[in-house]
Formats: sequence, C-alpha cells, structure tokens
Amino acid sequence: MTTDVLDAKDLKKADPVFGQLSFDEHEQIVFCNDKDTGLKAIIGIHNTVLGPALGGTRMWQYNSEWEALNDVLRLSRGMTFKSAITGLNLGGGKAVIIGDAKTQKTPELMRRFGEFIHSLSGKYITAEDVGMATDDMDTVREVTPFVTGISESKGGAGNPSPITAYGVFMGMKAAAKFKYGSDILEDKNIFVQGIGNVGEALVEHLVNEGAKVTIADISQERLEEVKSKYGVTIYGGSDIYAEDMDIYAPCALGATVNDETINKLRADIIAGAANNQLADEFKHGRLLQDNGIVYAPDFLINAGGIINVYAELENYDRAEIMRKTENIYNTTLEILDNAKVNNLTTHNAALNIAKERIETRRIENAK
Ligand SMILES: NC(=O)c1ccc[n+]([C@@H]2O[C@H](COP(=O)([O-])OP(=O)(O)OC[C@H]3O[C@@H](n4cnc5c(N)ncnc54)[C@H](O)[C@@H]3O)[C@@H](O)[C@H]2O)c1
Repeated sequence: MTTDVLDAKDLKKADPVFGQLSFDEHEQIVFCNDKDTGLKAIIGIHNTVLGPALGGTRMWQYNSEWEALNDVLRLSRGMTFKSAITGLNLGGGKAVIIGDAKTQKTPELMRRFGEFIHSLSGKYITAEDVGMATDDMDTVREVTPFVTGISESKGGAGNPSPITAYGVFMGMKAAAKFKYGSDILEDKNIFVQGIGNVGEALVEHLVNEGAKVTIADISQERLEEVKSKYGVTIYGGSDIYAEDMDIYAPCALGATVNDETINKLRADIIAGAANNQLADEFKHGRLLQDNGIVYAPDFLINAGGIINVYAELENYDRAEIMRKTENIYNTTLEILDNAKVNNLTTHNAALNIAKERIETRRIENAK
C-alpha cells in the first residue's frame, strides 16, 4: 500500500498500522529501510513488562507489506505470551525482513539490520527464525550486543532448533497422555508438516520412539534427505488436512488451522512447532474443542528455543536448559487439565495464565 495509489483521505480510512486486525496494543513498531543494502524490515515490540522484547527475525518473501506487518504483529504478540507462560523475564518482540533469504540475504544487509536493532538500546533483542541461521546472528553480533542464538564458538548457545523440537516432543507426549492416557507415541500415525530445522529434529525423536511418521514439505530435496536419514514416509496425497492421522504436527508456517481446513481435520491431537497455528485463535480454538481435537498451544510447547537463547542472557548451563524444556510436559498437562475443568479452549487456558503473570508484574512495576 503506498501513497502513490492512496490519497491522504483513503490512507486514513485504511488505518494500516494501528487499525490492523492483528494490532494488539503493541508498544512500538519500527520500520527499517536502507537503500544501499536493500533492507526492508519491520521490528514489532509488543510488550516489555516482564523484560526486554526478545524474539527471532524471519526473512520471507511476503506477497505484500501488509502481509509482513500482519506477520510481525502476530509473531511479536505470541512471543509475549510464550515467555510469560514459560516463566522467563522477557517481553515479546519479533522482526521480519522482507525478501528471499536464499538470494537477497547478504552480510551487509544483516549488519545494517543489526544497526537498527542497536538503535533501540536493548529494548528489542533478536535471534534466528525462519530464513535465518546462527551465522547470520554472528554477523549481527558484529554491530550490536542485542542478539542471541549466536554460535557456540562465539560464546552463544548455538542453534535453538533441536531444543525447540525437544520441547514440542514433550508437549506432544503430554497431549497424548491427556487424550489416550499414555504418553507413549509408538505406532501413532503422526504427520509432520515442514521438515526444516525443527521439523527434522522432531522427526528424529518420533522415529526413536517408534511412531509411524509421514512428512510433508514444499522442498522435494528436504523430503528426500529426511526420508533417507530416518526411513519415514513422504506424503504423496493432495490434501494433508483431510488425511486420517493421530497427530498433526505443523512445523512450517502459521495459520494452517483456518476456516478452510478446520472441518477437514481428523487428527486427535495438534502439536507442532509453528507459531500462530490458529488463524483466529478464539474462533478456531473453540471449533477444535467442539470437534474433540486436543490442541497443545503452540506458544507453550515451542518455547524450547526461547529457553535456549535466554540461557545466553542468564548464563544457564545445558542441564538447566534441558530441565526447563522438559518441564513443558508438566505445564502442557496442567493447561490441558485446567481447560477441561473450566470449559475453556486450551489456547485460552494458556493465554489466561500468561496474561495473569504479566498483569501481576505490571502492578509490581508500578509500585
Ligand atoms: N527454530 C526455532 O527454534 C523455532 C522456535 C519456535 C518456533 N519456531 C517455528 O517453527 C516453525 C519452523 O521453524 P524452523 O526453524 O524449522 O524453520 P525452517 O525454515 O528451518 O523450516 C521450515 C520448513 O517448512 C517448509 N515449508 C514452508 N512452507 C511450507 C508449506 N506450505 N508446506 C510444507 N512445508 C513448508 C520449508 O520448506 C522448510 O523446510 C516456524 O513457524 C518457526 O517460527 C521455530
């Protein structure tokens, strides 16, 4: 949307930022532009009551600026609740860089982006997300200390994805315990959609446990690679959402549970790594509940990565990271029980606890 095509009156009507459906009292939104490197990025800072806003940077070829803004608003809000429910002293933020990570990401662009982060004086701390790797965080580290997820050789905690996958595995097991009375995933028919950094590590846990795993991805190369490593089945159909399965694990992008897919889904459980799996968290959360599908809230079970990067700030060792990540099992089970007892959607049960923690701290901070 540009002023070339909209006059001032129309632009006002469009309310492109504060009027965005996904805008939820965000504290600050920073638009970053650099002509020389081609950088176009948006940093979303949702809430800093519990601490600095920490959340990864995603590089993606969005179809429009509106889509990028919507993504950063949704993702940064999700980070607020993820850190809150995990008990971390962090606020919620996220950044998106508009562009193709394979062809447009350069060290110059990453450094320039780092300078924008630096200008926020630590209010926002970045890490990796889709389209980013530890190398990129190392590059950002050259210009700002406000970055986590840097490589172990440079004093960081390394790639957070295996820890995220472990947390998702724990959350999935808790959901199985809730649904089936046993958390053993052996012989369960599990579809993993998106076998990138997290998806592949999740596949490994599932295969080790004896689950029957089917994988889906838009990259044929990844599919062949993961199949040859773990002997899993590549999905060959045309509508994954309509397939018979025990567990659906969304590990690609968000909003795959939406108006089009929700009534086709026949899984018993949804538990995956992707952020913002529900296109509309309230409506689709309720429909999943009505359809008897146990939804393990994404921001609860994919918190392993943030625990891992938080360790860089708090100097946790590996054992503490694993202990906190393993605890996702207990928290998930508590939330699922709490939702059942109080007739809430699982998403709302988790959200309420996260919001309560933020509100308590807000009152303390104001004293
Ligand atoms: N990396 C982490 O530690 C972490 C932490 C929390 C949440 N997440 C979330 O988990 C998800 C996966 O993260 P990642 O780090 O593994 O990303 P990644 O980029 O390594 O992997 C994403 C994979 O999804 C595939 N994909 C994209 N669109 C698809 C589609 N429509 N259908 C099927 N596959 C598709 C890609 O080809 C790629 O293989 C993201 O939503 C991310 O935000 C990641």
